[in-house]
Amino acid sequence: MKRQATEQMCLPGIPPCTQFAAVAPERLPTNTTASRHAIHRWFNFIAGFAPEFVAEHCPKSANGVLLDPFAGCGTSLVVAQACGNRAIGFEPHPFFVRIARAKTAAPPTQSHLRRIKEVLLNGAITGWPKSSLPEPVRVFLTKLFDEPILAQLLGARTALEKSGLVKDDLAFLVLSRVVEMCSKSQTDGIYKAPTSPKKAAVPIKAIHQVIDEIESDTKRLDNGVHLPEVFVYQRSSEDMTAVADSSVDVVVTSPPYLNNFDYAEMTRMQLYFWGLCTSWQEITQKVRAQLIVNTTTALTGHRDIQSRYRDEISTQVLSDLDKIVEALARERRRRPGKKEYDLLVYPYFAQMTRILREVLRCLKIGGQAHVVVADAAFYGVHVSTPQYFASIMTALGYDSVNCTKLRDRGHRWILEKRDGSPLGLGEYHISAKRGRNSL
Ligand SMILES: C[S@@+](CC[C@H](N)C(=O)[O-])C[C@H]1O[C@@H](n2cnc3c(N)ncnc32)[C@H](O)[C@@H]1O
Repeated sequence: MKRQATEQMCLPGIPPCTQFAAVAPERLPTNTTASRHAIHRWFNFIAGFAPEFVAEHCPKSANGVLLDPFAGCGTSLVVAQACGNRAIGFEPHPFFVRIARAKTAAPPTQSHLRRIKEVLLNGAITGWPKSSLPEPVRVFLTKLFDEPILAQLLGARTALEKSGLVKDDLAFLVLSRVVEMCSKSQTDGIYKAPTSPKKAAVPIKAIHQVIDEIESDTKRLDNGVHLPEVFVYQRSSEDMTAVADSSVDVVVTSPPYLNNFDYAEMTRMQLYFWGLCTSWQEITQKVRAQLIVNTTTALTGHRDIQSRYRDEISTQVLSDLDKIVEALARERRRRPGKKEYDLLVYPYFAQMTRILREVLRCLKIGGQAHVVVADAAFYGVHVSTPQYFASIMTALGYDSVNCTKLRDRGHRWILEKRDGSPLGLGEYHISAKRGRNSL
């Protein structure tokens, strides 16, 4: 079954998205259609939503408020804004937050775009006035770029710094996209170099291409279409006190999945290129430490406070989680890899409990929450994350909690000592609302 794309996704003046006549439901939660939508295509994020999914759940009346506590590159915020709603996002990652802000800022004037292009092109042509890069940065970047290309990219960055445009989120987005286009290896997901080579673009051509795309998406907005305001806070959504109680109509969000992307690792190229971090240790301190704990690389500072996290989790799921932690600890002792998966469970569910509690506080009575999340399996132990989220949300006081499967994510796990075919992992949609007596 295919669903019609939502035409009301776009305000007058925003290039319409009607070329997407229909989208198969199993593709809906993922970013697969984003590269064909105006604005979304400026920076397509592998872990992002399909805009169509957000559009289905966006507030139906203009002037509604959408909240995304895991804003990423801003898909929900862009859709909400295009539908005439205000939007609020939280994203502690210093790279993603700027991409989300660039996509949701007031549309650039043509002269501003021309200035960005001119500065970038001049910088790329001038090249890089060689100074030394920190060693881990040099080693990493020279695996991803041929030297002349890297010199042009660093030249463009230096030109942005000199012109002051380095603080401009759109200029930051443009060069970040160009950097991605010019790398010799896939870097949009888990860092795969040098095993997944790809065609590398040339900086000058890439700059023209990205600016042309933005120009064509925003040209029609020059004549004063008023876009609603969007705020993207650079902080963890564990604390959303910046959002008033009972002020949000709809939440559409997708948190990091257990044992899936390490969002600090996957942006290493950008963090190094922009000088935001200069070593793996700095990535941990400055970026990873701000994100919720979903991978074993994120355990620094969380190993010794497991019982504190456990105390925050509702009793409805605790006995299941205790069993999972025990099973994973047993497997860790037995397996050569000795992965500390057991230490992820309490921090992950405790942090998610905090965030889901904050979401409920922010929702208006009758307001809806839509959460997309996947289950996980490590060392043959299955973690039914969507089910636990649904139980936690019920325990917190959400009403009408409902969990449906959106798509399969492959057959990747077999329950230990159980015969039979492998069981599949999936991606799920949890919907719930704030009832009259919810808090
Ligand atoms: C699945 S992605 C969301 C993608 C988003 N839906 C989009 O379309 O771009 C999850 C995001 O959560 C962010 N994140 C991790 N920990 C967070 C926290 N404590 N508070 C807010 N966001 C967090 C990650 O940096 C990542 O960008």
